[in-house]
Parts: sequence; structure tokens; C-alpha cells
Amino acid sequence: MKHVYINEIASHVGETILLRGWIYNLRSSGKIKFLIFRDGTGFLQCVAGKADVSGEDFELISTVAQESSVEITGKVREDKRAPGGFELVLSGVRLIAGSENYPITPKEHGSSFLLDIRHLWLRSRRQHVVMKVRHHAISAIRDFLNNRGFLCLDTPIFTPNVCEGTSTLFETDYFGDKAYLSQSGQLYNEATAAAFGRVYCFGPTFRAEKSKTRRHLTEFWMVEPEVAFATLEDIIDLAEEFFEYIVLRCVESCGQELSDVLERDISKLEAVKRPFVRLHYDDAVDLLKQKGVDFEWGNDFGGGDETILGEAFDKPLLVHHYPTRVKAFYMERDPEDPEYCLSVDMLAPEGYGEMIGGGQRIHDLDQLQKRIREHDLPEEAFRWYSDLRRYGSVPHSGFGLGLERTVSYICGLKHLREAIPFPRLLNRLSP
Ligand code: 4AD
Ligand code: MG
Repeated sequence: MKHVYINEIASHVGETILLRGWIYNLRSSGKIKFLIFRDGTGFLQCVAGKADVSGEDFELISTVAQESSVEITGKVREDKRAPGGFELVLSGVRLIAGSENYPITPKEHGSSFLLDIRHLWLRSRRQHVVMKVRHHAISAIRDFLNNRGFLCLDTPIFTPNVCEGTSTLFETDYFGDKAYLSQSGQLYNEATAAAFGRVYCFGPTFRAEKSKTRRHLTEFWMVEPEVAFATLEDIIDLAEEFFEYIVLRCVESCGQELSDVLERDISKLEAVKRPFVRLHYDDAVDLLKQKGVDFEWGNDFGGGDETILGEAFDKPLLVHHYPTRVKAFYMERDPEDPEYCLSVDMLAPEGYGEMIGGGQRIHDLDQLQKRIREHDLPEEAFRWYSDLRRYGSVPHSGFGLGLERTVSYICGLKHLREAIPFPRLLNRLSP
């Protein structure tokens, strides 16, 4: 008999097929047994009447425990009332391995309990949708950049350099020398952009975030495009187009499940269409003040400020020209007023906070060296980076988009920890 996956079932209506997977849930209504079966590609309602299967199989179906692994056979039936639109009329069941006292039951569990058994929690329906969205976001990211001629050139994780400030560095011993886990591939992207024009890296990033917030992981994935000859304006355009594409692709591929299982309001996601809203930092500060926030000009926005700013619009908000002093050493200053720099942050609607951070990089050697000294960074470690300004330096820009922030926003999650298979947090290194 042909082995079929649940997500292929639509083309097997009327056929008797074989499926392999796990028992998700069991419900009995007198002589008819209903079970929800999952195989990793989806969930399927199966029914068994006493007359349809052997006595032995009926006994097994009646008693099989949640998360037992099984092989089942049955006939596919189209049924509008069944979740997903199809149902399997069982004709046989074979137990592969039992499962005793599975810790996750249909009742509500606390998040810390669920995080402790994340290796099992991933099997649940909600997590299934979130991980599927993550997968589709990743492929949308790669497709978008690949189709526009960007080269994917991954950057190292062990680095001797600071990129985003010294306070969130993970330090490690590298054969007697100090190395840091990468906070961002940007500095290396600048080298590959000068070699290949349009590049990106996409991989894990590490920040020793000592605070417990809903928006911070210590290990997260970031995609970072970098473009030679691009200005701040160019990179803002790219960020808009990029984010719109990712969100709409996820709606296209997972919209039904987002709305059915996660109860996400899809119309909010469909509103993510260009042009987004653009505000100068000064105007964003004014807006905050109008909203009654006691905010001092010149500071960086905190999580709460970002929530309020993002909630003010039903499209993403791009705040540009932050004060130079709140941003990283590499930011190009505004030639009109060096108090400001050519930076941009993109804040999601509905208060989900910062999705993207980036800007135009300093391309003048003297400026760069001055900033490295002002930030007290070790000049030796930045020698190679400075070289990029010695040999044919050009204006260039780029940004980083946080994958888990994006997935959280798309799925409407309260906390980033559900947006990655195995989250790493201040107080969590396992499973
Ligand atoms: O704004 P950030 O720090 O920018 C950079 O690292 C630049 N070097 C990127 C570049 O220009 N190539 O980080 C970029 C994005 C943020 O907007 C956010 O989405 C995400 O990375 N991010 C985090 N996500 C989860 N946990 C954390 N601790 C994060 N810190 C940043
Ligand atoms: Mg940032």
C-alpha cells in the first residue's frame, strides 16, 4: 500500500492509503472512535466504527495512548466538517511503540513547564504552525534576496571583533586567546559587499542580554543584507520591500492555520503593504510626547516606547536619523548635522517592536578611526575592517532583520521564545 503524508491527502480521495505517525488525541462516542493523528506534515481526523476494523484493532484504537507511534490504513473521504476538510475511515492500525503518561495533555499548562519539555512541546498543534511560519519566513527571505542577485556569503561566529557594543558580548577561550560569539555578521558583510556588490549572511547571532524581556533571546537568527554604493534611502526602500514580501508570503502559505490555530487576525498582516510610514527621529519623539510619554530627546527608544510608536500606525514604521550617540560606532553621520546618523529602525505595528536595524556605514578612513577610538575599541582588531576604507572605499549600507521577531509578529506571539525550536534565554540553556 502506498505511504502518503497528510499534506498530500487531497489527491488521494477515495483511495485506501497508509500513513505513519503519532496519536495526537483520542475521542470516543459510543461505538465510534475518533482519533486525531499527526505525521509531522499535518493533523488528520480518523474515524473507526466497530464494523470497519478487526476486533483486535478496535481494541487498540480504543486504548492507544496519546503520542504512541502507529501505522494506520484507511480510506480518504472528503468532509467539509472535518478540520482540514478530509477524514480517514480507518481499516487497520498497527502499534509501533507505546507512550506512557505523556506529560502534555489537552489541558492548559504553564509556560515554564512547557519550556522544560520543549522537545515534546514542539509536537503540539500550535507549535506546528509557528515552526511552519518560521520555515516559510526563511524561504521567503532567501528567495527574495537570491532573486535580486544577492550572494549568500556566511560570516564567522567566532570573532575577535565587537560589532554592536561591548555590553552584550559572549566571550570564549580560543586556544588561549579571547574570542567572541558574533553579535552580527555586518563587519564581514562590508568586506564581502566590496568584493561581490550585493551580499547577505543569515545565521545565528549571540547577545548576552542580561534582561528578561519578551523580545530578547541570547541566541537568535538574523539575516543581514549589505549593498555597495547604497545610501540610507536605498536601504530603507529595500527594507520595506523585503518585509512586505516576507509577511505576505507567510500569509499566502500559512494564512489558514494562522487564523484557525493561532487566531491571528490576517487582515492586520495583509495591511503590511508599501509604502510604510517613515519618521525622522525628532518626529518620532514628538509623537511619543503627544502620546503622553515623558521622553528625553537624545535617548534611545526603550521597548515600551517602541510599542507605543508601532501601535500608532497600522503599517510598519521606519524611524530614521537617530542621534549618533545612541547608535553603534560604524554609523555614518548626517552630513547636514553630525548629531544625527544615517540609521534606520523598523518597528512593527501592533506593538511588536523593532524588526530591523541598519543604516549607512562610515566609508571615510579618518572618520572611522576617530569613531573606533571614541568608542574605546581595540584598533588592532579593526585593522582589516579599516582596510575596506583604504582600498576603493564606497558608500554602502545594510541592515539586519531578526527572524524570531518577525515570526513572533506574524504569528502574534506574546514572547519570542516560541519562535525558535529551542530558545536560549538568560535563565535557560536546556533542552
Ligand atoms: O539592531 P541590531 O542590533 O542591528 C545589528 O546588529 C546590525 N549590525 C545589523 C546590520 O546592519 N547588518 O539587530 C538587528 C535586529 C533587530 O532589529 C532585531 O530584530 C534583532 O536583530 N535582534 C534580536 N532578536 C532577538 N533577540 C535579541 N536579543 C535581539 N537583538 C537584536
Ligand atoms: Mg537595533
